Amino acid sequence: MNTETHVSNRWSNKYAYILAATGAAVGLGNLWKFPYIMGENGGGAFVLVYLLCILFIGIPVMMAEVAIGKRGRSTPANAAAMVSKESGHSSHWSIIGSMGVLAGYLILSFYVVIAGWAVAYVLYGATGEFSAAAADAETHADTIGSLFGNLVSSVPNLLIYTTLIVVAVVYVLSKGVKDGLETAVTYLMPAMFVLLVAIMIYSAIVGDFAAAFGFMFNIDFSKLTIEGVLVALGHAFFTLSLASGIMMVYGAYLPKGVSIAKTSIMIAIADTVVALIAGLAIYPIVFAHGLEPSAGPGLLFQALPIAFGSMPMGDVVGTLFFVMVVFAAFTSAIALLESAAAYLVERQGMSRAKASIVAGVGIWLLSLLTIFSLSGESWTLLPFMGEGKTIFDGLDYLTANILLPLGGLLISVFVGWFMKDELVKAEFNLSDGQHKLVMVLLRFVAPIAIIFVFINAIGLF
Ligand code: PFF
Ligand code: NA
Repeated sequence: MNTETHVSNRWSNKYAYILAATGAAVGLGNLWKFPYIMGENGGGAFVLVYLLCILFIGIPVMMAEVAIGKRGRSTPANAAAMVSKESGHSSHWSIIGSMGVLAGYLILSFYVVIAGWAVAYVLYGATGEFSAAAADAETHADTIGSLFGNLVSSVPNLLIYTTLIVVAVVYVLSKGVKDGLETAVTYLMPAMFVLLVAIMIYSAIVGDFAAAFGFMFNIDFSKLTIEGVLVALGHAFFTLSLASGIMMVYGAYLPKGVSIAKTSIMIAIADTVVALIAGLAIYPIVFAHGLEPSAGPGLLFQALPIAFGSMPMGDVVGTLFFVMVVFAAFTSAIALLESAAAYLVERQGMSRAKASIVAGVGIWLLSLLTIFSLSGESWTLLPFMGEGKTIFDGLDYLTANILLPLGGLLISVFVGWFMKDELVKAEFNLSDGQHKLVMVLLRFVAPIAIIFVFINAIGLF
């Protein structure tokens, strides 16, 4: 069987792949989600568990996923089925692909809404809201807080910003990812990094850096619950874009001769560094202004604008910062829609443009669930999840805490135990010692850790 014919797209070279995969990885997960879930889960111990999950589970699972995509040269479900058959097993393993595409699609339905918040904040920055709020030091934090509160409780506003994002994502995707996006990412990712470091230095100076540093790196396990461990594990998958179909899709476009191990490690390092710097930029402000680390999803949007309001040129810096957030979110959103669109092209025979539009309309409709959840509609409440929990919380929980870890479990079991060893060897292309190490992680460490955390956190015991 000539497996090279299924997908004809290829990245132009190794760097294009690294850039695209880093673009997919670095996003709202790093800037928005990591800081607030760290706050909700007590800081240091959570950070440590998260880093261990990235190192011992995230990186090997990323390698496994890319290897499946590259070997299968096809969209996730087909790629997994093909590799399974080639290894002498059933095509039912296609489930690891279809589950990923489903998880990615559900993630995107709230991802576009949060990206929309960032669009709103670009406008707030540009119209001087941040510095205006700082005019009265007494009420500064409260004024910034109500800016956020008013945004998320307004269905029309959320609709406008979300729609903008969805339309833009569909447009770029239908045009083909290569030219526009690769170029934009080349400039914007480094720019975002520089700006983030600058903001971190500024908040270290004006904020309480010592408290922030202590919060993030003093390890106190008494503050960490087993649910917190599950959140850290799920977030390791979320932030690296694993078990969402996308790494299989990107792997399918991978040119020959690229080291799956080296590129995976580089992507994981870049992603982790951005998340930690985001934490170190936000928390000095949180502690200096008496905000709650456990403020939840609003944290990024309530902490940094306080700093922007009081810093010289803060409106400009703040506007630029949220432009970067939009871009980081955008490159991830495109990756998320890509796996759904690629599926429609391959399975339903749609043109690329049509597939992008169909997938986009679906996302727009699904995003309404999150929009109405945020605005406080009572029909969005899910009483079985706990008091005040909404469909948005449910989508987040279902994807990050259930679908992604479950997908990661199946992927590691599949590549560790079922995929033919010579195929795995050929794709990973490591020295014997390194190969053994990765296989131990995929066969034992990842599955056992995931099952253990799952069983304990979901309370199956
Ligand atoms: N990794 C992205 C982030 O951290 O924001 C989110 C994401 C993108 C998840 C793409 C899954 C995915 F397929
Ligand atoms: Na990320």
